[in-house]
Amino acid sequence: MQLTSKKLMKMWRDFWTQNGHAEIKGASLIPQDNTVLFTTAGMQPLIPYLMGQPHPLGNKLFDIQPCLRTNDIDEVGDNRHHTMFFMLGNWSLGAYFKKEAIQWSFKFLTDKNYLNIPTNRLAVTVFAGDETSPRDETASKLWQEQGLKPEQIFYFPKKDNWWEMGGGVGPCGPDTEIFYDTGKPACSKDCNPSCDCGKWVEIWNNVFMEFNVAQKGAKPEKLPKQNVDTGMGLERVVSVLNGFDSTYQNDCFVDAISTLEKASNKKFDFTQDSGRDFCIICDHIRASVFLLGDAQPTTPSNVGQGYVLRRLIRRAVNCTRNLEIDAKILLDVAQNFIDFYAEEFPKFVETKQFILDELQKEINKFLDALQGGLKEFNRIIAEKPQGYVIDGVTAFRLFDTFGFPLELTIDLAKKHGISIDKQGFLEAMKKHQQLSRDNSGAMFKGGVAVANNSEEALRLARLHTATHLMLAALRKVVGSYVEQRGSNITPERLRFDFVCDHKLTPEELAQVSDLVNQAIKANATVVCEKMTVEQAKNSGAIGIFDNKYGNEVTVYTMGEFSKEICGGPHAKTTGELKQFKILKEESSSSGVRRIKATIIDN
Ligand code: ALA
Repeated sequence: MQLTSKKLMKMWRDFWTQNGHAEIKGASLIPQDNTVLFTTAGMQPLIPYLMGQPHPLGNKLFDIQPCLRTNDIDEVGDNRHHTMFFMLGNWSLGAYFKKEAIQWSFKFLTDKNYLNIPTNRLAVTVFAGDETSPRDETASKLWQEQGLKPEQIFYFPKKDNWWEMGGGVGPCGPDTEIFYDTGKPACSKDCNPSCDCGKWVEIWNNVFMEFNVAQKGAKPEKLPKQNVDTGMGLERVVSVLNGFDSTYQNDCFVDAISTLEKASNKKFDFTQDSGRDFCIICDHIRASVFLLGDAQPTTPSNVGQGYVLRRLIRRAVNCTRNLEIDAKILLDVAQNFIDFYAEEFPKFVETKQFILDELQKEINKFLDALQGGLKEFNRIIAEKPQGYVIDGVTAFRLFDTFGFPLELTIDLAKKHGISIDKQGFLEAMKKHQQLSRDNSGAMFKGGVAVANNSEEALRLARLHTATHLMLAALRKVVGSYVEQRGSNITPERLRFDFVCDHKLTPEELAQVSDLVNQAIKANATVVCEKMTVEQAKNSGAIGIFDNKYGNEVTVYTMGEFSKEICGGPHAKTTGELKQFKILKEESSSSGVRRIKATIIDN
């Protein structure tokens, strides 16, 4: 194996460090802003900075970001799909644009000290232009200056060469995608990088992010700066440059595959049914280790991130059944990944027991439920013809009563030539979640715990108000660049993560505390008003102005002290908070600090 994932990570660090970029370390798989379940691209934690806010580490950045996407979860099991994967990225926040980005990309790809790819094995695509943005002749010319021939450059429309976030809202722009020629024969004379015959594999994407779409369907508007956002798929690069047929031949999977080979007495061959089970186990257990070992650990449950984790573990268990091996082997596979990533993610070693215990618990829970569920499943499909479709409500019942994740039901049904109404399942699930939400009493938004009784709800609301006052105080003491990154409130305390480039000094902490206590003493009425985003902006309210709030937003005002967009709930007056006390200040992640604080009745 000439190129390993560890080697590629090192190369990436060396290259960008030598070229004046700072590394963003330790971003979690769980995004801070609650708008999506997982970090799905390296740029996600950078959104505020792409929008114009200064980054504490400067304007040239890079990272190695674990990402998790569930949209292709059904495809996992083939030779190249993954839920969790690593995205290598570099960013310019207005520091450089197309010229340097392309020059650096080319150097990293072709320089003999780095990937050493011959120029003739590369092809690039660029944006063909439309009514919103011109044809990207600049990028094309820059590639040619690097030595690419015009026939190695392809022009494609927006659907291929324009990058935007899922949902089409936020920073976006034309991109240039870089493809590697695997050397396989062309499938036809028209074969080109957009073809998925296997000859061309996309390895890197450079997005020229100079636009923002404020809300769905709106025209892209120029951002304050011309940014660059890139993403290279680590698994793919390692695999294609080694000439592998499958990304599961990469170094990170070697030990896990060997564990499974020994246990099953089968040789890994991704073209066989058993190979599919090997790949699913490797992918799902690796992702589970990353979720359980994250700085903000996810544990299996029936909602949100926890439900995804449950699906991953349960489907892996089912694969062990297909391979006729004891599901306990998954703990050995998890251990293989913990060992492999120990150096890069020391937290996995620290929390190893927690990771293995949670995995074990979920495996046991599922095995307990499995017998009843299989009986029910067999009853459902009894005497059903090939091509029969199990309706969504029935599939949901298997999930709700027997803990059968959708993929498991799909896998089982497939073996009998039966399929599932996926859409119907999702609708049934949504309906169920709506019902339980309606029945759960005080359910607060934005990282606030669910209250079980009214006294608790009141305390949570008071702590929420304290969080607003504290953010306002931090902005006064530290600077107006301070901005919320995450918030979590329990009846005991508030926990607040915010952008800040230094450890707060004892004096700063004392000032913040004093300011909040003065605001409490002033006993201002907490005013809640609904207004348009425009009005909120003009009123000087802080908060995230994107369309996740819809056109109308709620603004909470606390005297002259604080004005913030928020979904509530809050105390009626600041005086209800009685006394504010900071418990702890610590680092949360790079450029982000965390404060835990509480309120006490004096
Ligand atoms: N944000 C770009 C992507 O995810 C680089 O492909």
